[in-house]
Amino acid sequence: MENGLTDSVMFDINLLKEMDFGRSKVTFNPPVSPSNPGESLVMRPLSSGDFDRGFMQLLSQLTSVGETTQDKFLERFNGMKSTGSYYVVVVEDTDRNQVVAAATLILEQKFIHECALRGRIEDVVVNSEQRGKQLGKLLMATLTLLSQDLGCYKTTLECSETNITFYEKFGYVKDKEVYMQNRH
Ligand SMILES: CC(C)(COP(=O)(O)OP(=O)(O)OC[C@H]1O[C@@H](n2cnc3c(N)ncnc32)[C@H](O)[C@@H]1OP(=O)(O)O)[C@@H](O)C(=O)NCCC(=O)NCCS
Repeated sequence: MENGLTDSVMFDINLLKEMDFGRSKVTFNPPVSPSNPGESLVMRPLSSGDFDRGFMQLLSQLTSVGETTQDKFLERFNGMKSTGSYYVVVVEDTDRNQVVAAATLILEQKFIHECALRGRIEDVVVNSEQRGKQLGKLLMATLTLLSQDLGCYKTTLECSETNITFYEKFGYVKDKEVYMQNRH
């Protein structure tokens, strides 16, 4: 890291390393896994150094990210990390030193269902140059299993109509409930 400090990671990397990925219902050809995502690729938790590895530029392929300084990024990173509820997973291209794919699992704490946890998947994005190489599939399969491993009773996400068939691959089904929002 440029300031000489060690990078901080958002969560325990062993959750990915030790995951029993064999139980995933999704098939990969060629075979890939969190510990072996492909040549020159590493899957890991988001790191405080990823601001310099194009993380915000990657997110800008999903939606508007605005002007985010490194300080602002680090403040948000540390805030998320301190809750213990945010699992931002990235894929880094180690040849280019760039983050090329990312997705987020958030654990929502509930009182209902005996104080259950609900997993929410957000901000799934693969760099446009790297799409079609199973990275989106690998991230979604990983986060769905991670949500299960962390004890969530269900995992949910919101998506556009055009992405429904993508998420159905991982067992997600369209619910009868309607997604509502009030923009501020
Ligand atoms: C959607 C997205 C994450 C998929 O990532 P990807 O790495 O290109 O997808 P993969 O290579 O892992 O494809 C996996 C499978 O899903 C299919 N697929 C990919 N994108 C799809 C889409 N938008 N809709 C339906 N199926 C899709 C592929 O054909 C492939 O099928 P197969 O396993 O039968 O061969 C990626 O296209 C992306 O970042 N899009 C822009 C951001 C976005 O829309 N994010 C989702 C927000 S809800």
